[in-house]
This record gives sequence, C-alpha cells and structure tokens, in this order.
Amino acid sequence: MRVFDTVIAFKNFINSDCLNKKLGFVPTMGALHNGHLSLINRAKTENDLVAVSIFINPTQFNNADDLKNYPKTLDADLQMLKAVHCDIVLVPSVAEMYPKGAVSETFSFDGLENLMEGAFRPGHFNGVGTIVKRLLEIVNPANAYFGEKDYQQLLIIKKLVKLLNLNINIVSCPIYREPNGLAMSSRNELLSLPQRQEATIIYKILCDVKSNFKKEPHQQVYEAVDRAFKAHPFFKLEYFVIAEADTLMPVNKIIATKSYRAFIAVFAGNVRLIDNIAL
Ligand code: PAJ
Repeated sequence: MRVFDTVIAFKNFINSDCLNKKLGFVPTMGALHNGHLSLINRAKTENDLVAVSIFINPTQFNNADDLKNYPKTLDADLQMLKAVHCDIVLVPSVAEMYPKGAVSETFSFDGLENLMEGAFRPGHFNGVGTIVKRLLEIVNPANAYFGEKDYQQLLIIKKLVKLLNLNINIVSCPIYREPNGLAMSSRNELLSLPQRQEATIIYKILCDVKSNFKKEPHQQVYEAVDRAFKAHPFFKLEYFVIAEADTLMPVNKIIATKSYRAFIAVFAGNVRLIDNIAL
C-alpha cells in the first residue's frame, strides 16, 4: 500500500504507475469503520486499483466544536486500509487542499442543498461540494464510491459530477449497520456505552415507519416518531422527513411509480446522528 501526504507525489504516482488501470476512489474523513470498508471492498471488486483519501474537511463543518471533536485515528486507519489491501492512500494537508484559505465555493444543486442536512447545517453542502470537486479532479477515477448513509450527500455528488461534466461513475453503496441496527458512523465513537446501546432505537423507529408508511396517514407516522423520541431520555429529534427518493421533496400523496425514503437526524447529548431507510 502506498501512502502519499502530498497531492504532487500522489499525482506523479497515478500518472506513471497507474496508467491504463481502472481506478476506484473512496473519499473519507478517516476514523474508519466497517461502513467505510464496505465501500472499499466493493471498489476492490470493480476496479484494478483502489485509492482512498483521508481528509477532515474543515469547510463542511458548520460547528467549530464538531470539527475539533471529530475523531482522528490515522494510524489505526492506515492499518485497516492495509488489512483490506487498499492500494493507494492520499492524506493531504489543509494547506494543500485550500491554498487560498479554507473557504467554500458556492454551488446550486437544484435546491437539494437547502433541505434537511442543508437546512440544519448551513454551508455544509458547499463545503462537501468544494472538497469532493477538488478530490475528484486530483484523483480522476473511473468510479467513485459513496454511502447511502449520507443519502442527501450522495444525490448532491451525482449533481456535482453532472454540473462539472466529469466522466466519473458515482456508485451508491448500501448502509452498513452495527449488529443492533445502528448505522455505522465515525461519530458513534463519541457516544457513551449506554447511548450507543440505546441508539438502536433510531433504526427501530425507521423500521416501524417502513411498515406503517403505506398503512397509516403520514401525519400519524410523523406523530409516532415525534412521540417515540420525546419519551426517550437520551435522544432529541432534530428532524424527521419522508421524502421522494430522487428529489427529496417531502411526501404529499403517495405515487405508485415513485420511491420514498425516511430521513432522521437526532442528537445524543452533543453528538449528532443521521440515518435513513428506503420505504
Ligand atoms: P465520511 O463520513 O468519512 O464518509 C465517507 C464515505 O463513507 C461516505 O460516502 C459515507 O456515506 C460512507 N459511509 C459512512 N458510514 C457508512 C455506513 N455505515 N454505511 C455505508 N457507507 C457509509 O462523507 C464524508 O466522509 C465526507 O463528507 C466526504 C464525502 C469524504 C467529503 O469530505
């Protein structure tokens, strides 16, 4: 496994040793877990070589404490990547990724950027768009892998690639969960043990929504979710939305030809968790 901490060295390697090889790319912010590894394993099966980036992108954090507290585990990350036979790792510096200072470009993703995560984390998707654009231009892979765990991000990256006219295939990968149903996330490391055990409620509630969605009026489904979180001492609901899967427009009347997903964001103390499910 080759590890590069400068873009120049990474590009030199790609342009000399990786010519005519199909390259798969998995961008991450590190604190790797099996969710990330599921993307890397998928990329391994579909490409000749797999590159992973580890970069905690300051511009996508709208909260300074969240950035400060974000888990940083580079040594363990590199060991995990070696164990799954990742070929190339890029760990660039903030100075190199943002030579003019850590500021975002402004994007318009057809309004997707203003909903849910965009509404509650102002500027978040400009930050994601800025860094993913830069990374995709540096790596220029055939395939880039993103998780449905961050479903809104996935749709936005698909828009970004169209907007920039990049010839890169965006591959969406299913949510990888802990045995108790909690979606794997780097932020799970910040939960206390009881919080982590109890966080199974998020997935349980999403499963209830899935089974009730076509049987009950939407209002009733929304109220049940609200009640379930109000009754729980550990979690505070930030938003719950059932939306059309392609546009993220909140559901109004169910249309048989469309697909829907339920999205949730909750706080456990000051740790923010998101999850979603196909309905
Ligand atoms: P990060 O949170 O590290 O996630 C990297 C990739 O792993 C994302 O595509 C995310 O959706 C996916 N992922 C995380 N947990 C997952 C799970 N439990 N199951 C499936 N996929 C999962 O997302 C980011 O980093 C950043 O925003 C990034 C795209 C790297 C830009 O900075």
